[in-house]
Amino acid sequence: MTVGIIGCGAIANIITDFVMEGKLGVDLKFFYDWDRERAKNLASKTKGKVAPNVNDMLDQVDLVIEAASPQAVVELIPQIINRGKDVIIMSVGALIDRNFKNHLETMALENKSRIYTPSGAIVGLDGIKAASMGKITKISLITRKPPKSLGISVDEEKTLYEGKASAAVRKFPKNMNVAATLSIACNKEADVKIIADPNVNHNIHEIQIVGDFGEFKTTTQNMSCATNPKTSVLAAYSVIKLLKSLNEYSRIGT
Ligand SMILES: NC(=O)c1ccc[n+]([C@@H]2O[C@H](COP(=O)([O-])OP(=O)(O)OC[C@H]3O[C@@H](n4cnc5c(N)ncnc54)[C@H](O)[C@@H]3O)[C@@H](O)[C@H]2O)c1
Repeated sequence: MTVGIIGCGAIANIITDFVMEGKLGVDLKFFYDWDRERAKNLASKTKGKVAPNVNDMLDQVDLVIEAASPQAVVELIPQIINRGKDVIIMSVGALIDRNFKNHLETMALENKSRIYTPSGAIVGLDGIKAASMGKITKISLITRKPPKSLGISVDEEKTLYEGKASAAVRKFPKNMNVAATLSIACNKEADVKIIADPNVNHNIHEIQIVGDFGEFKTTTQNMSCATNPKTSVLAAYSVIKLLKSLNEYSRIGT
């Protein structure tokens, strides 16, 4: 499978390191970033190519990974799907806009392409998807991050946001992909609380879901990527696992 990547930052770096170990069955060949130096850096590691723009890679790839920004999803993903290529979307916040998500899905159906959104920085998505087959009465997320990770400086715990997921994504587009993933997975807007906490060193996500299946809670205590404190290592690992599973003939989990 020949793959291109949009966005050559923290997540792309981790993916590239795994691909170079040769265990994913993936030929990561094209790198696009509006910061060309970043694209060059990753391309040189893999003997891949810098794509001057996204269109230039589309004749030669089977799948494109977006690891850039919600803006990149809005501006670039439609043309990729229109060419019948599969996509993996990391900036899931862009998909909380139902009209846009429906538009992409209609195009994917027409062009026989697939849209994958990895579980990212949270756990329990398999159970949440299964639970969504019944009735969900409550879905909530409490995200607690070091202030630096939220781009602020405070001496004591501070609640920055309390409300619905869609507004959280609009207010914190670089930090709230998890709220979007959660809401999309169970087809119900999550209640979200975002806390800046100078006493924690990790990005922590607590999820509670209640429905006719019963109830569960999960807590993820994530290590941040070395080059981007907003991004959790687990998010990068979730794409890597997804890439690996695309070549597998047997699957476990929903
Ligand atoms: N789904 C999840 O749980 C999850 C978790 C962490 C991060 N993310 C998201 O994944 C994306 C990548 O994360 P990261 O930590 O690697 O980010 P990063 O900031 O380290 O790297 C992003 C790169 O993309 C480039 N870029 C941004 N917009 C672009 C555009 N429109 N066209 C071309 N290049 C563009 C930037 O120059 C940068 O090099 C972000 O949107 C982030 O919010 C999702």
